[in-house]
Amino acid sequence: MNTNYFKTLTKLFDIIIDYIENNIQNSNNVIEYKNPVNLKKELNLKIQNKPISEEQLINEVENYLKYSVKTGNKQFFNQLYSGFTLPGFIAEILTSITNTSMYTFEVAPVATLIEKELISKMCNIAGFEKGSGIFVTGGSNANLIAMFSARNKVFPDSKNKGLYSTKILTAFVSDQAHYSFGTAANLLGIGADNLIKVKTDKEGKMIINELENAIINSLKRNELPFFIAGTAGTTMLGAFDRFEEISKISKKYNCHFHIDGSFGGSIILSNKKRYLFKGLKQADSFAWNPHKLMNIPLVASVILFNDNKVLKSNLTKLTTDYIFHENEEKNCDLGESSIQCGRKNDALKVWLTWKFFGDLGFEKRINNLFEIANYLKFKILEHNSFELMADVQTLTVCFRYNTKNISDLNSFNMKIREELRKSGKSMVNYGYIEKDLTIRFVISNADVTKGDIDVFFQNFIDIAHKINN
Ligand SMILES: Cc1ncc(COP(=O)(O)O)c(C=O)c1O
Repeated sequence: MNTNYFKTLTKLFDIIIDYIENNIQNSNNVIEYKNPVNLKKELNLKIQNKPISEEQLINEVENYLKYSVKTGNKQFFNQLYSGFTLPGFIAEILTSITNTSMYTFEVAPVATLIEKELISKMCNIAGFEKGSGIFVTGGSNANLIAMFSARNKVFPDSKNKGLYSTKILTAFVSDQAHYSFGTAANLLGIGADNLIKVKTDKEGKMIINELENAIINSLKRNELPFFIAGTAGTTMLGAFDRFEEISKISKKYNCHFHIDGSFGGSIILSNKKRYLFKGLKQADSFAWNPHKLMNIPLVASVILFNDNKVLKSNLTKLTTDYIFHENEEKNCDLGESSIQCGRKNDALKVWLTWKFFGDLGFEKRINNLFEIANYLKFKILEHNSFELMADVQTLTVCFRYNTKNISDLNSFNMKIREELRKSGKSMVNYGYIEKDLTIRFVISNADVTKGDIDVFFQNFIDIAHKINN
């Protein structure tokens, strides 16, 4: 490797440090917006026969950073993840330079022990005394693995013989549950139509009577109900289902009870808010995404099981003797608990960040998120051109701009959102509550201050006034 290589590396790191500094100080816009056609013109996308020069390499890096969305900017409220943490960033670099796969202790000795330590800590927090778990590639996959384990528990033959001789299996989620359950039902041979969506109340929580009725109806159709999932933090309203009550129904009908905490799972780190998880101890599995409310870089996602035998017994026995060897390290190999072969080390960034803040630091950060959500809620309630569209239950604030002279509120609010996004000043998303287009503000970056909220609010109003005039 020649010395130029290291000079280039230094130049690139300078660019990266500048980017991080600008992000932290909010001195750049959230996005330099260009539509797809114009963006394509700015980027040099074609890969050529000849290698590029250092100057071109630097140019590609700068262009990438310039036109990407700055999700670490404190005006980014668009998604359920955001923010930037120093240990998370450093850990990603360490993971990249030590580039290994998590299947065996042999090739990932430190990372394996770190992942085991984290799984044990997270099981403890969840109240899964004899629990087990594994890092997966996102909340969607955590939900898939939960449903997969439930399927094999209720119908063990599915592992080797497939689903050819079973009744129709039915799974139950609320109508506010994440779409990944439909994908899971599809992938697992259950069929997306056999995922039954149970009605929710005004708060977006599953109605327990409706759940029981849906199960009874399924039994009457001679089907086999096997899986119920509650949600800890729905994507629109941030609602938490009534886990204790769902757990009773799950026991009564012999179903696997999963809790999808992909969004709200990290709220468990706050002692003040832990009451939301009442009933989690009785669940069979729990999806928890540190890449959302813990501000750890994507992807950092865990599936936890209350029973420590579930994962290994559900997977097909590994016969790959060129990877897994019979020796004293075998019990440490995580590959036997994963549906992946090559698997990235996602545990390091969670571990390092958790150590950096400590339990107490994380608790403070989660509490700060609630304070910020509350602050915005009151700003909205106090302003007569704004309407709160739903109670603020956790970390989403659903609202719209509403004055008497606006006839079509849906298109007006959509317009504000789009102009705001394209201005690059703030980014916030929208969804629908019944037929009403609703601005969905998500607070997931614990470094956001009330001052940042004031800026967001003013940016929103400025655009609304501009359109309304
Ligand atoms: C409730 C819920 N479940 C599952 C997911 C999927 O998680 P991931 O994006 O990590 O696949 C999300 C993502 O936003 C979510 O909010």
